Amino acid sequence: MDESRLNEIITMFDGGLAKAASVSDIEALKVDFLGKKGHVTSLFKEMGKVAAEDRPAFGEKINKVKERVESGIKEFEKKISEKAVSEKINSSYCDVTLPGKFHEIGHRHPISTTIAEIVEIFGRLGFSVSEGPEIETDYINFDALNVFEWHPARDMQDSFYAGPNAVLRTHTSGVQIRTMLENEPPIKIVAPGRVYRFDEVDASHSPVFHQVEGLLVDKNTNFAAFKGIISSFCREFFGADKKVVFRPSYFPFTEPSAEVDVECINCKGRGCGVCKNSGFLEVMGAGMVHPNVLRNGNIDPEIYRGFAFGMGVERIAMLRYAVRDIRDFYVNDLRVLSQFK
Ligand code: DAH
Repeated sequence: MDESRLNEIITMFDGGLAKAASVSDIEALKVDFLGKKGHVTSLFKEMGKVAAEDRPAFGEKINKVKERVESGIKEFEKKISEKAVSEKINSSYCDVTLPGKFHEIGHRHPISTTIAEIVEIFGRLGFSVSEGPEIETDYINFDALNVFEWHPARDMQDSFYAGPNAVLRTHTSGVQIRTMLENEPPIKIVAPGRVYRFDEVDASHSPVFHQVEGLLVDKNTNFAAFKGIISSFCREFFGADKKVVFRPSYFPFTEPSAEVDVECINCKGRGCGVCKNSGFLEVMGAGMVHPNVLRNGNIDPEIYRGFAFGMGVERIAMLRYAVRDIRDFYVNDLRVLSQFK
């Protein structure tokens, strides 16, 4: 076996290596040189033909060739994997000095904000939150509240009926009954929630809107306490400088009944379009709980007395934020809603 055969193999290998550009090229070279029938492997097969005394020297030489081929391949593989890594780094390069993406943070809907503020103020006055179902029995929504069968609100034209005895609650007042049936006095709750009325949609009406109901039942409460609590709330919510007026009214579930007016937040009582030149805005219905209603709540009207109130959240929010059309609250137009951050 002469040297030139070995040199020839090395030259061939170097030529192949110089041309190799990919992993598959190098795999082909591996097979050509180190594979079963590869050039280097075939050298080993020729060992037998070499004279015994020359074998060690020959073995050493072909081992050198083999090492040379193996290290060539290894180096190439190293280079190609480094290249892959740097290509990956370059392709996913990120400039950390660029300004970040701005993710806009959402905020509460003005109706939710208004409910939260009302609940918070009454919370400070010692009221906790109570809730009731939106599909209510006829009995709780009407009868238990002293709303007799002939009352116009019970007409199919005015309420959404969900079954013979089920109505989409027309007010949150039914929560008064549920709360009385489930709790012993003293009771001090507010009940925010959605209510439904068969109303034509216009700038001030929506078939779905929100109310916050309130109920206090205790042994010693009276009309003066009622006026005190409601005035405190109105001053907190609408401003300490606003006059609060209790105007006689009628509700089946209260006796006496009142409507509460607050000095117009737009014109401060001088008279304007918002208050229809009256100088005052009607903000809630209220009164001392009717003895029949206490009885229907399993409470003895000879021992206990109560007062109740109910306000329309949309109406109050419209006054507060000077919104002229109730529909603005429901269209989910971000140009409108983003003004209430
Ligand atoms: N439920 C009445 C309504 O929807 C509002 C109301 C009036 C609630 C007087 C009360 C009340 O608790 O005492 O118009």
